[in-house]
Amino acid sequence: MKRVLILAALLFLAGCSQGKKENNLDGKKLLEQKCSSCHNLDLPPKTFEDEKAPPMMAVAFHVRSFIKTEDESQRVPKAIAFVKDYVINPSASKSFCDKESLKSYGLMPSQKGKVTQDELQAIAEYMFSHFTQKNLNEAQVIQNRLNAMPKGERLALQNNCLSCHKVDRKIVGPAFRDVARKKGNSLEVLMQSIKNGSKKKYASSKGAIMPAFTKLSDADVKTISEWILSLKDEK
Ligand code: HEC
Ligand code: HEC
Repeated sequence: MKRVLILAALLFLAGCSQGKKENNLDGKKLLEQKCSSCHNLDLPPKTFEDEKAPPMMAVAFHVRSFIKTEDESQRVPKAIAFVKDYVINPSASKSFCDKESLKSYGLMPSQKGKVTQDELQAIAEYMFSHFTQKNLNEAQVIQNRLNAMPKGERLALQNNCLSCHKVDRKIVGPAFRDVARKKGNSLEVLMQSIKNGSKKKYASSKGAIMPAFTKLSDADVKTISEWILSLKDEK
């Protein structure tokens, strides 16, 4: 189960990579507020049939690699300057989008009056520190490991169940293996306990309670419960 803890830590890191800068503007938040209505911000990106704009990862990779510079150390500063200008004064001649895509998306509408130069500085700094090949590779490693897990285990990880439960020994909550073996426990019972919470059922938990997870869908609760029950023979 060590594997899962490392994954949980990686997920946590991926979720809060640095956004705040000295000027106190949070580039990550600003990007979400000012740009996500058109650009998908996921890493790796999600693409849609009717998307309004290229995913932000594509934009960042694009701009960084196409910007002209003799001096590699100037690449990111120049890319930042490009973004600050483009968002206010977009034009077909400046865009690094290929002609086909430009035609299908249409030119980006100027965001003049909607975002300041300081905010754009923070946004662009964040873009070029977050949408990197290294972060993409790491995100893909995490994604591949998540994909390789049984779906129930993945849901348990993503919903933080594993901060209180392990498969093979109790921490705050009982070992899932022991939950699966407990007399009288069935799919129904587990689903009810996850949705409504549980207390005083396990002496080993010393009065700690299982919080109710009211926001999980029935389908997800069922998938997690089936996974837990499958752990009966786990050593
Ligand atoms: C109303 C929709 C919309 C919003 C909001 C928007 N964009 Fe765009 N953006 C587009 C479209 C469409 C394109 C592709 C066409 C083009 O290059 O002009 C684009 C292209 C770009 C490009 C040029 C990409 C290239 O490869 O040359 C940059 C840079 C960019 N956007 C940055 C931003 C940033 C930063 C924000 C937030 C401050 C933002 N955009 C908000 C629609 C939008
Ligand atoms: C804050 C800690 C905590 C979290 C987070 C947590 N649990 Fe629990 N869980 C507990 C404790 C403590 C118990 C034992 C409660 C008792 O004694 O009845 C428990 C018991 C259970 C049981 C046994 C119920 C039964 O009827 O036998 C299941 C199944 C379970 N948890 C699943 C989950 C799942 C799935 C998640 C994530 C969606 C989760 N838990 C998240 C603490 C937690």
